[in-house]
Amino acid sequence: MFPQAYPLYKVKNMAEGRIRTFVHGLDSRMEGGIPENYITLICGRAGTMKSTLSYYILFNNAKIKKKRGIYVTLEQSRVSLLEHMIKLGMDPRTLSDSGIVVIDMTRLRKETKSKASGEDINWVESILTTIQTYKVKYACDVLVLDSLAALYSLATFNNPRSDIFFFFEKLREMEMSIFIISEMLDPDKELFGMFGVEDFLADGIVHLDLEKDGRRVNLFLSIFKMRKTNHDRGYYPLLFDGNRFEIITD
Ligand SMILES: Nc1ncnc2c1ncn2[C@@H]1O[C@H](COP(=O)(O)OP(=O)(O)O)[C@@H](O)[C@H]1O
Ligand SMILES: [Mg+2]
Repeated sequence: MFPQAYPLYKVKNMAEGRIRTFVHGLDSRMEGGIPENYITLICGRAGTMKSTLSYYILFNNAKIKKKRGIYVTLEQSRVSLLEHMIKLGMDPRTLSDSGIVVIDMTRLRKETKSKASGEDINWVESILTTIQTYKVKYACDVLVLDSLAALYSLATFNNPRSDIFFFFEKLREMEMSIFIISEMLDPDKELFGMFGVEDFLADGIVHLDLEKDGRRVNLFLSIFKMRKTNHDRGYYPLLFDGNRFEIITD
């Protein structure tokens, strides 16, 4: 009688314990979303909408699921980031009883540079402490860190592999669903992080790729890796139509 009722019920149950991306067509292709408290890398070269997609996930989880989020920016200023997001219809001021905290660590970066003493900041420590403080203060569930490349340019990693391992472990202990933006400098090499350890430390990898088609540049999305999840590895065209991301699956 109601042929659509059963699939809808199924999708609802499937999404339990998962964070939806709200990219139309995507969540149903990975058991309802990304398992909660995973660390997921959002990878791609510059201009592949990594920041936009990550913020979009944060925004929609706040708006629809009432999950509070933290966006830590290490490269783009808070003002520039929010101007871009507001233009795309994602004004955090429209979120009434939930919200997004945008932490601008580029300011700290500038302040340190202007210090004559050249005093060293322990960036890893200060990022972790800041996140922890906001997480507790506002009961946040979702975190975006933008970006790994910016962190690498600030922090001194004497022993990159074990230092990155430590950083990921500390993030994992926070028990939040975490999205780490990783800029790929040489996308042909499919190196998702700079040191080649990030991809196995992460639970999931979302790859955004650009492809030239004559004079057009098209954007594609693939779930490259997602632990404990059935998903396929197709590269789907990714569109942003003014207020919603969608993948084209036919
Ligand atoms: N509706 C849209 N569709 C496709 N691309 C867009 C749209 N709106 C903005 N952009 C592009 O997205 C870019 C910004 O994306 P951003 O999330 O900052 O990328 P990244 O973080 O990967 O560098 C802008 O420079 C602009 O070219
Ligand atoms: Mg960006």
